[in-house]
Amino acid sequence: MENTPPQPRFEIGMVGLGVMGRNFLLNMADHGFSVAGDDKDSAKVEQLRQEAGQRDACGAVEVGAFVSMLRLPRAVMLLVPAGAPVDSVINDLLPHLQPGDLIIDAGNSHFTDTDLRARNLAAKGIQFLGVGVSGGEEGARHGPSIMPGGPKEAYERIRKICEASAAQFNGEPCVTYLGPGSAGHFVKMVHNGVEYALMQLIAETYDLMKRGVGLTDDELAEFYGGWDKGELEGYLVEITGKIFSRPDEKSGRRLIDEIRDVAAQLGTGMWTSQSALDLQVPIPTIDAAVSARNLSVLEGEREEASKALPRPALPFPADRDAFLEKLGHALFAGTIIAYAQGMAVLKAASEKYSYGLDLSAVARIWRGGCIIRSALLEDIRTAYSAQANLPNLLLDAGVAKKVTAHQEDLRSVVGTAAQLGLPAPALMSALAYLDSYRSSWLPANLIQAQRDYFGSHTYERTDAKGAFHTEWEKPLGQ
Ligand code: 6PG
Repeated sequence: MENTPPQPRFEIGMVGLGVMGRNFLLNMADHGFSVAGDDKDSAKVEQLRQEAGQRDACGAVEVGAFVSMLRLPRAVMLLVPAGAPVDSVINDLLPHLQPGDLIIDAGNSHFTDTDLRARNLAAKGIQFLGVGVSGGEEGARHGPSIMPGGPKEAYERIRKICEASAAQFNGEPCVTYLGPGSAGHFVKMVHNGVEYALMQLIAETYDLMKRGVGLTDDELAEFYGGWDKGELEGYLVEITGKIFSRPDEKSGRRLIDEIRDVAAQLGTGMWTSQSALDLQVPIPTIDAAVSARNLSVLEGEREEASKALPRPALPFPADRDAFLEKLGHALFAGTIIAYAQGMAVLKAASEKYSYGLDLSAVARIWRGGCIIRSALLEDIRTAYSAQANLPNLLLDAGVAKKVTAHQEDLRSVVGTAAQLGLPAPALMSALAYLDSYRSSWLPANLIQAQRDYFGSHTYERTDAKGAFHTEWEKPLGQ
């Protein structure tokens, strides 16, 4: 790495040299791109300097010096926390940029912020891309899934860098142009919503195996490891198995048992739920996962409630081995349903916000690098390739067959959880979603009648068009 700020010759800049930014920058450098990094924290710039070694990379603390290293027209990527830090970095950069330069926000920004920033910057002649990047530290360093959105011509400027540094799956890079405006950040947000749901579904199977069946950490490690070799193969199942084997340096016991049962969140799951509500798309399994994290935080209340509201003191009622097999099937059905809900939000958002999303391409770039990568994504890609306008993933014949094959096991597991009083909100909501979605008749006629009864909101009839109202308390014929 060069020590003295040199010519304006670097192909791309990175603002934010935290774990993600620094690793992504090194990843790009490994693929032969010249990169310059910027961070107000000189220790981070120094760390980059050390890790970059002989790579064609350079670092700066001062933003003006950093910008002056970049080749014209400039391309500057930001990997800083979502919200105010993004605007602050943009404001710092602006006096040093000129029309034609490009800013790429690669953080987890809310899609509405991305739209606003794109508009404001376009007025100044600055191009803006909102790019989702998934894969954590390891992905950033060795190949993430990249979800770019914004002006197509702006993406073309960084396409080669993205394709080279993205994860590769079956020889294909896990990146593609997704659509205009905030398409990339919307897709990343929904990726995270699905991530919340899959994590919660897995956590519920853990609870049922631990408190229900009484498995040890070694047995849990073995189960998840085994599941990862079958239809449930996926990154989150894989790391779950590894988590149960990890000893704690401090106590000598398993680390998992030393971790508080309180789940943090940065908010992307909640944004998915909020956005789905705005779009009126039901995603109850993602919602359940967000609520489960919120409930986990109520530690003190839970402690009190565990005494005031004891759970049924029943022994595990089922045949252990049969239950464990069913549990794997239930998790698989729940997983399919969680992806189906995520894809349904993407479909609705694509229509409402004119993203023009290709859902098969979304599934394709999620097959590698990202946190929700799993074998199932190949089935999802195939489903949307065969039928781009599939109203819901569950309507694909191949996917429907798999869900149907496992639905009874999902039902049975949910029944056991209910009997034992063990919480399984995501599994339960997945089953309820399936049962509602495949129900050709729902009791919504009663909801219509109730609304009309108390609020004269009118109702529709099965045998005639139009809006009808009844004076419900007036006897017939009066
Ligand atoms: C990813 C992750 C990443 C991050 C989440 C964590 O795709 O690489 O989703 O973006 O780990 O933001 O989100 P929570 O803190 O909300 O769980």
